[in-house]
Amino acid sequence: MHTDHTAAIDHLLQAAIVFDRGDARRIQHLLKVHTFAALIGRLEGLDDETQYRLEAAAVLHDIGIHEAERTYGSSAGKYQELTGPRPARGLLAPLGFTAEQTDRICWLIAHHHTYTNVEGSDYQILLEADFLVNAYEDNLSADAIRSFRDRIFRTRTGIELLNASYGLQEKDFSSENAAEQLSAK
Ligand SMILES: [Fe+2]
Repeated sequence: MHTDHTAAIDHLLQAAIVFDRGDARRIQHLLKVHTFAALIGRLEGLDDETQYRLEAAAVLHDIGIHEAERTYGSSAGKYQELTGPRPARGLLAPLGFTAEQTDRICWLIAHHHTYTNVEGSDYQILLEADFLVNAYEDNLSADAIRSFRDRIFRTRTGIELLNASYGLQEKDFSSENAAEQLSAK
């Protein structure tokens, strides 16, 4: 990533950590999700602009959690999607993000628990990175991880990292292929 972009992400990480002051668990979470998102993006060969938006969204994806808890008494995904964009704009504004970049980052924050109509590699990779961390933090079963992988994961890198992390076998595409062949007839 361009050095200006790398510096902005560093400052954004620092600002997000300060914003989440006193909540070490969520600070650890955002650091891990950012690291996975950045790694998948680089290994998948994203262009600089998409990588930049992805990394910023990964840093800020859960920034609405505290306000969701205060306003709705819940940190459930649908509430965070509502409460995230406002504080995100406040953290992005001093760091030179354009209006277009800010809008896309806030849109990603507002959709990071929505798994339908996933368009754009920034969106896809954010979902994968968040799940790579949540599967561990929420101690999900191997069946639950495999099922999410087969429904949602699409990047080769994300699938490899998930399989390696949880000791899963390769995704089995044979049944999907059979279904595709049937529907093609
Ligand atoms: Fe998250």
